[in-house]
Amino acid sequence: MKGIILAGGLATRLYPLTHATNKHLLPVYDQPMIYYPIKTLLKAGIDEILIVTGGPHAGDFIRVLKDGKDLGIKHLEYTYQEKAGGIADALSLAKDFADNEPVAVILGDNTTDIDIKPYVESFKDGAMIFLKKVADPQRFGVPVFTKPRKGAKKKITKIEEKPKEPQSDYAVTGLYFYDNEIFDIIKTIKPSDRGQLEITDVNNIYLKKDKLNWTEIDGFWTDAGTPASLFKANAYWSIRKGVNLE
Ligand code: DAU
Repeated sequence: MKGIILAGGLATRLYPLTHATNKHLLPVYDQPMIYYPIKTLLKAGIDEILIVTGGPHAGDFIRVLKDGKDLGIKHLEYTYQEKAGGIADALSLAKDFADNEPVAVILGDNTTDIDIKPYVESFKDGAMIFLKKVADPQRFGVPVFTKPRKGAKKKITKIEEKPKEPQSDYAVTGLYFYDNEIFDIIKTIKPSDRGQLEITDVNNIYLKKDKLNWTEIDGFWTDAGTPASLFKANAYWSIRKGVNLE
């Protein structure tokens, strides 16, 4: 499996922090944010990685990551997304890199402490998403479940992107596995009301084909795309690494 980290977009929600550099290079305690998804992939044995970036500070990545060897990346590629056209648009740029292999995709502003290796090893085809219970689901893609039947795993009937009235308190996190059909599926979707190709639309297509698996993250996960969530990521990782905030 190959790894793709999406690190484009303009991160306007973090202005003024992102006027001078790309969001994914901001500090999360003692490391640039993008180190976290890179390490999540490396820990799972994925050492061929593509970074999709964009915006005015794309060149900053080279200064920080260089060829990736210091971090243990065997093969690091970069590509440039011309416009912030959405997560699925960014992912479409990875077709040649994927070269018919399945891909593990992580949004560059997501950090987690879970070990994804068992899921990487058992992934066969279709798509796999990772859910996490959150206090503010309206900020995320949110799954709608069927009524749970005793002993059976709940089924997702659809995923709603940033619903005003979320029908569950789960977020679809920015960690996804896809088979190679993803690149054909992206070609069939249309921009949403916010003008983006939404990863939620892609996931709903996998769901309709009965090819979407899910699991719940048993550990820490947060995004870091707002001042509050960036602070949360910093607080968690600093305490985890031994800082005493008292
Ligand atoms: O964090 C998980 C959430 O991420 C999901 O629950 C949502 O379904 C998904 O749409 C996404 O929501 P956000 O609104 O938080 O996504 P955001 O626009 O902040 O983009 C997340 C990352 O994706 C960002 O750190 C870089 C990458 N990205 C985003 C866009 C819009 C790109 O590489 N290119 C883009 O054009």
